[in-house]
Amino acid sequence: GVVNTKQMLSRALKERYAVPGFNFCHLEQVQAIIQAIVETKSPVILQILKSDREYIGPKLIPNIVKGLVEYAKDLGLEKPQIALHLDHGDTLELCKNCIDDGFSSVMIDGSHLPFEENIKLTKSVVDYAHKFNVTVEGELGVIAGAEGYKYSKISTYTEPEDVINFVSHTGCDSLAISIGTAHGSYKFTAEQCEKDERGVLVPPPLAFNVLEEIERKLSDFPIVLHGSSTVPQDKVKTINLYGGKLKDAIGIPESQLAKAAKQAVCKINIDSDSRLTMTASIRKFFAEIPYEYDPRIYLAIARDDMKEVYKHLISNVLGSANKL
Ligand code: G3H
Ligand code: 13P
Ligand code: ZN
Ligand code: NA
Repeated sequence: GVVNTKQMLSRALKERYAVPGFNFCHLEQVQAIIQAIVETKSPVILQILKSDREYIGPKLIPNIVKGLVEYAKDLGLEKPQIALHLDHGDTLELCKNCIDDGFSSVMIDGSHLPFEENIKLTKSVVDYAHKFNVTVEGELGVIAGAEGYKYSKISTYTEPEDVINFVSHTGCDSLAISIGTAHGSYKFTAEQCEKDERGVLVPPPLAFNVLEEIERKLSDFPIVLHGSSTVPQDKVKTINLYGGKLKDAIGIPESQLAKAAKQAVCKINIDSDSRLTMTASIRKFFAEIPYEYDPRIYLAIARDDMKEVYKHLISNVLGSANKL
């Protein structure tokens, strides 16, 4: 069955890599994730936004994931490590429902609340979750972009002075922080970036000074990085070449994620890279083969393309390959 995130995050912390937190909302996407973890022998945290839960249907999710554990074994992974996690939970009630449905981990995101209220809400989720051996991720700081149910144009970095208080008073198992990442495919405006000699936009670096200060305060505590899609420029180009209109879509450079993974960051959340990859595959397919209408043909191509992106992230960026 599914496992909570305790062991996977503590090993990642010790061995200096990050476990992927991959969102899913449809079958081909999650098949691609499972194929990728089988081929790379990586642990994985499968995560569901509230909107994903509504899209799929709440009762279907735990059954899909039970099936996925068997699917992974069938593909040759003897002991898969798969967590089922609620991403950006907004209420105690939603967290409780997910835990009752069989989620092994939940995030309660009270980062928009005043500090004391965030502590209170997060602690109420921890009190419930820990009774069922379910791990809890909290959040401090504001991450730019659409965060599940809320939106902010700009980031406010996590205040390192707050982290000890938050973690000790809530008892949460991991902490999401804001150090300059953002949700979605437009993480930076062109104005925020510099141009390199080839005219490619280079985004500003993450606030590693803030991460390092948090790491000093909370020695040996798992940190989570949201909004970490790399926004592969070949996918953006393909989308735009075949009729799409994504202007200046910019992600987090792989080198920045790799650097964070070697520090206290133990879980890196990626959703948009997979959305972009599927869109690029299907746009290209229909432009080239307009007479095809069997979804198995084009969805299989999209699935293979997503698998390659996941494998690349696992093996070359996060470092979680061969960590089972
Ligand atoms: O809150 C996290 C979501 O995964 C954001 O998704 O920004 O890729 O639409 P998106
Ligand atoms: P991206 O939009 O960068 O993929 O972020 C995903 C995320 O943080 C999910 O919580
Ligand atoms: Zn997020
Ligand atoms: Na790490």
